[in-house]
Amino acid sequence: MKIIVKDNYSEMSKLAASVIADLVRKKPDCVLGLATGATPIGTYHELARLHREEGLDFSKVRTFNLDEYLGISMDLTLPYEMDQSYARFMHEELFKKINIKKKNAHVPYGLATDPDKYCKEYEKMIADAGGLDLQLLGIGGDGHIGFNEPGSSFDSRTRVEHLNQKSIDDNYEAFYKKAGVSKEEMPKKAITMGVATIMEAKSLLMIVSGIGKADIIQKALEGPVTTQITASAIQTFKRDVTVILDKPAASKLKKL
Ligand code: PGA
Repeated sequence: MKIIVKDNYSEMSKLAASVIADLVRKKPDCVLGLATGATPIGTYHELARLHREEGLDFSKVRTFNLDEYLGISMDLTLPYEMDQSYARFMHEELFKKINIKKKNAHVPYGLATDPDKYCKEYEKMIADAGGLDLQLLGIGGDGHIGFNEPGSSFDSRTRVEHLNQKSIDDNYEAFYKKAGVSKEEMPKKAITMGVATIMEAKSLLMIVSGIGKADIIQKALEGPVTTQITASAIQTFKRDVTVILDKPAASKLKKL
């Protein structure tokens, strides 16, 4: 595992974007697994800049997002703050700023009428694309990757997951509060790639920022491998895994 510490969020984001950009240049039709949340925004903005200023070409790139809230989906007629779907997030933060083809950018469909069946189809779509070349990951305050909450089996695949209160609270604070959504209205379920789905990627790139993540990332990287912290599964990853942290997030690591 390669662990890299950068001075701040901006430097972390630039390095993460350059890892992704290198892959896109080397393999123009690569399959990227993407993530949402506050952490990857800087990475996506840097990728958009590389597209705009240096012509980084996404025309053949395929993407699959980790997760989406169940029961909501992109509504481009709503103001950005009001539409809290991850599809909308990806559209605003990345897809509309690069030349990715719409048909190649996949976010789990939160309004699927038969979510369990849809989850199997999502797995098949990833497999049919040739599998994920790189999966970008954040880490949740409860140690989740994707929405694989504590207790999720390492054999889990794309499925409907009940969110735990910590994830609901974190997402409320980060995104929903400013949209005027009440806590009671927060989605409580999501479609997420499973831990096993993520672990089948050819490479992993985890980004972690801020003092608020220092304890959980220390446990995930240096503590026991446990389903109580699903991010700890990356310790068992057999291929290329890179973790980029900013200094505050890395401040509790003991083995650096
Ligand atoms: P964050 O979320 O980037 O908003 O902290 C990370 C995650 O929940 O995976």
